[in-house]
Amino acid sequence: MKTAHLVLTLTCVISFTCTHAKIGYFWHITDFHYDPLYTSQGDTRRHCRRADERGSSGHHRALGRFGDYSCDSSLELIESAARHMRTRHSENVEFVLWTGDIIASRYGSDEERFQAIRNMTDLMGRTFSSHFVFPVLGHLDPAPSENLTNLWGHWLPLEALQTFKIGGYYTIEQSHSKLRIVALNTNLFSVRESNGGPAQAQWDWLNAVLEKAASHSEMVYIVGHAAPGSDSRHAYDAHATGANAQYLRTVRRHARIIAGQFFGHLHADTFRVIYDNDRPVSWALLAPSVSPHREPASASNPGLRLYKFDTNTGKVLDYTQYYLDLAAANRGGAAEWTTEYNLTQYYGLHEVSADALHNLADKLRIGSPHETMAFNKYIRAYSVKHDSSECDGACAHQHFCAITCLELAAYRQCVEAAASALAAAKRAASLETPIAVLLVMVISVLTLL
Ligand SMILES: *[C@@H]1O[C@H](CO)[C@@H](O)[C@H](O)[C@H]1NC(C)=O
Ligand SMILES: *[C@@H]1O[C@H](CO)[C@@H](O)[C@H](O)[C@H]1NC(C)=O
Ligand SMILES: *[C@@H]1O[C@H](CO)[C@@H](O)[C@H](O)[C@H]1NC(C)=O
Ligand SMILES: [Zn+2]
Repeated sequence: MKTAHLVLTLTCVISFTCTHAKIGYFWHITDFHYDPLYTSQGDTRRHCRRADERGSSGHHRALGRFGDYSCDSSLELIESAARHMRTRHSENVEFVLWTGDIIASRYGSDEERFQAIRNMTDLMGRTFSSHFVFPVLGHLDPAPSENLTNLWGHWLPLEALQTFKIGGYYTIEQSHSKLRIVALNTNLFSVRESNGGPAQAQWDWLNAVLEKAASHSEMVYIVGHAAPGSDSRHAYDAHATGANAQYLRTVRRHARIIAGQFFGHLHADTFRVIYDNDRPVSWALLAPSVSPHREPASASNPGLRLYKFDTNTGKVLDYTQYYLDLAAANRGGAAEWTTEYNLTQYYGLHEVSADALHNLADKLRIGSPHETMAFNKYIRAYSVKHDSSECDGACAHQHFCAITCLELAAYRQCVEAAASALAAAKRAASLETPIAVLLVMVISVLTLL
């Protein structure tokens, strides 16, 4: 009797937890930089497009069928990415985040760019025929318009279309869960636009959405093209100082309900930790691009990311990073996308949280006992296994600063502090020699006596 009762109770407990934590998946894809003019006969000095016949010297190398590390994406590369996503996990995918920069810079007229976006939209529509794709605008994408709203109308509900049309931002309520997606137009954070009316309208709207979500006990994903903070590679800030600070204040205020922030733009695999009085309170994960090229002269392998999450609470459980070894694909004549790594396993995280990512960042700090191993993993993932140039001490420290110091002034301070520490260490090293020589001389003199 007792045993039966226990078994029954256990079954209830187990089935309760099973239905409670429903596992789902979503794709995060970003920065296609589709270049309709890419050709394997292209010239890397001309953005991999065909040089006009007379001007062509004929000395340039042939480019790969799937693309080249100094070029934006060929159609074949993007089609191979779409094929990989179609064959992977299509049943329990809940939605797709598509974070902008769809078309290569320097391509075509407004009309031609719109045509290219239409083609990419059709491809995503065929790839995810029974899913919703949530697009956000990158800095290379057109401003919000009637045309764009119509193009993406089948993915977004009416209310979302209304705000998208005027400002390029919107929110989506997941009907069967307490998860809300907030899609931002981060172009409105730029120096050029951050003081305008549309930028203010987005702040007002964002605050209202987050207040309402908090009062309804919803969890929120924030999705955008460019993350707050600085780029570790060159002193380039995507956002105006004021807009950056305002975004961070907003995240700190609502950190309890923000279950994740997802960005692209950097064409690199990295992350950010947001602190409130030195306490890690929120995180952002930045997905690498499909485009192998990274301005101004850097590169990575093409990447696609599949998140695993609890569909009820929105809690991110893990992600799988897929990638294409572009050089191997061109050599072998076939684009074989494979798993690069899983987040929790790769870095040995017990969960995906601000605390866990803070601890990971700490392992990347220069002088940490784990530094070399963790940093080597990080830097390999950063360029999606495309071994690029060396990252010395100063470079490594810039990465640490970019991950942990999202206030623009704090980032600069962090980098300068490291630079002066390194310079001091160098000075000390150069002082060592004369002192040592002096000591040897003194000792020699003493022994002679
Ligand atoms: C937007 O659509 C209108 C009507 O179809 C068309 O005339 C216009 O050229 C389009 N604009 C762009 C940028 O494609
Ligand atoms: C878009 O697709 C159409 C139909 O396949 C094709 O004719 C056109 O060249 C494509 N344009 C771009 C910019 O990809
Ligand atoms: C990585 O995650 C995927 C998706 O959850 C899973 O199928 C795969 O087995 C994992 N791989 C490893 C090595 O843990
Ligand atoms: Zn981009």
